[in-house]
Amino acid sequence: MNKSLLNRRQFTTRCAAFGLAIPALTAMPRVPAGAQLPATGAASPRAARSVKLPDGTSVAALGQGSSHLGRGRHPQSDEEEALRTGIALGMTLIDTSGDYGNGRSEGLIGQAIAAERDRVFLVSKVEASEASADGMERACEASLARLRTDHLDLYLLHWPVPNTQFSAVVAGFEKLRAAGKIRAWGVSNFDTGQMEDLFRVPDGRRCATNQVPYSLNNRHIERDLLPWCKQHNLPVMAYSPLGGDRNLVVGDRTPAQIGAAHGCSAAAVALAWVIRSGNVIAIPESGSPAHVRENAVALSLALTPGDLHTLDAAYPGA
Ligand SMILES: NC(=O)c1ccc[n+]([C@@H]2O[C@H](COP(=O)([O-])OP(=O)(O)OC[C@H]3O[C@@H](n4cnc5c(N)ncnc54)[C@H](OP(=O)(O)O)[C@@H]3O)[C@@H](O)[C@H]2O)c1
Repeated sequence: MNKSLLNRRQFTTRCAAFGLAIPALTAMPRVPAGAQLPATGAASPRAARSVKLPDGTSVAALGQGSSHLGRGRHPQSDEEEALRTGIALGMTLIDTSGDYGNGRSEGLIGQAIAAERDRVFLVSKVEASEASADGMERACEASLARLRTDHLDLYLLHWPVPNTQFSAVVAGFEKLRAAGKIRAWGVSNFDTGQMEDLFRVPDGRRCATNQVPYSLNNRHIERDLLPWCKQHNLPVMAYSPLGGDRNLVVGDRTPAQIGAAHGCSAAAVALAWVIRSGNVIAIPESGSPAHVRENAVALSLALTPGDLHTLDAAYPGA
């Protein structure tokens, strides 16, 4: 077998067949045009595969979600392996919430990453119902204990509270930040009007991201929120980037055809599309190591202008 002739899909399939995680993208053999490993250098595609937060921290453009993990959907060992596979392949941002499975998602992540916490950019969330000063502190401490860590890299408000409470929530986040419990904070499910109001309260501009749904088949944020965030230098974190459980795009013909041309899956195409701008972080969830290996390809997949045009035609958006 001449390894230099394997394309990415063949290589991934053989790794999966032998139960191997692909060790590092740079260790890949030759890959087809368009799915090539990024070159190095400031103007290279690799630069577009990480996203800079407003405080200058660089995070992987592709992370891992976890809302169904720890709930018996896959064997626990598979879910832990899936997370570690993702980390090994560069999907080092992990998104969770104290609310997912009543803390079971955080518990599973805490166990899976215990030996490599420092490699992970850990994101968790506080619920709107917990958004009092005491409540935020209590929720954060509980998340830290389940995640077996002493700090979160990013703490998000899961759903908006009334605008009149924005100041108090920001103050609560800033208190946690000053205490070293969190490194940064952000919001989730905020619309453009709520972002504008948030930026008007003291320290509101310290917000690091807004986590919202965004995928080929859900392009609503392109109308105003995405341009607003770009204008304010605020990265967007895209949840349900494969369309979410009930509306997955992984079986759709167009991304599958584009994937076939690049030697990768429809899922990789869909994720590469979500992170194409350099201002969006995608957090696909999978409890399957094989799926995670497919998804990680998006980190180095450069879609051509022709691919983007074809995807626009198939998913017209807003
Ligand atoms: N802030 C919020 O309000 C909010 C709301 C929703 C979600 N989220 C976050 O966003 C994360 C992702 O969102 P999501 O779970 O709704 O949607 P998603 O990531 O678009 O889709 C997840 C589904 O895709 C499947 N999948 C993943 N990779 C695949 C592949 N390569 N081939 C085929 N199927 C694949 C998964 O099944 P397998 O496990 O079998 O691979 C799972 O059923 C959540 O886990 C959570 O962390 C946040």
